[in-house]
Amino acid sequence: MTPTQQPTDTMSKQDRYACVLKQIAAVISDEQDMIANMANTAAILHQSFDFWWTGFYIVRGEELVLGPFQGPVACTRIKKGKGVCGTAWERKQTVVVPNVHLFKGHIACSSESQSEIVVPLSVENKVTAVLDIDSRHLDTFDDTDRQWLERITQLLMQ
Ligand code: SME
Repeated sequence: MTPTQQPTDTMSKQDRYACVLKQIAAVISDEQDMIANMANTAAILHQSFDFWWTGFYIVRGEELVLGPFQGPVACTRIKKGKGVCGTAWERKQTVVVPNVHLFKGHIACSSESQSEIVVPLSVENKVTAVLDIDSRHLDTFDDTDRQWLERITQLLMQ
C-alpha cells in the first residue's frame, strides 16, 4: 500500500475528494476482493467527511443486502424499487436526496439522517451493488459529490 496525502480540515470539497480518490486507488490497487475493497472504501470516505453513515448494499437476487459499512446499525435488506437505495438500483442512476423527509418511500434506518446520496455500481449495465451515504444535515450532497463518488465507484469496478 502506497502512503498518500491525508485530507486536512481546510481543504475544499473538491480537494478532499481528489485526496480520497488517490487514497482509495492506492488501497485497492493490490486487492481483487470486492468486499475487502468496499470495506476500505467505506472507511476512507467515512473518515474523510462528516458523514453519518457510509456503506454498500449488494444485489442478491431481487434484494439489496447490507454490505461493508461505517456508522450505526442499518437495515439489512431492501427490495428493488424501494427506498433511495432500491430506487437508484431500479433507475441505474445516482439519486441525490436533499431532504429525506420529502422522498416518498425513504427507508429511515436512523432518525438522524437528513440527506442522502446513493450511487449504483454496474457491470455491463447491470447493477451489482450501491454505495449509500447519509448525512445528519440537510442538503449535504450536490453535483460535486455525485461526480466524485461516481468516479470512486468506477474505480472499484475496474
Ligand atoms: N435510507 C436508505 C436505507 C439505507 S440506510 O440509509 C443505511 C433508503 O431509503 O434506501
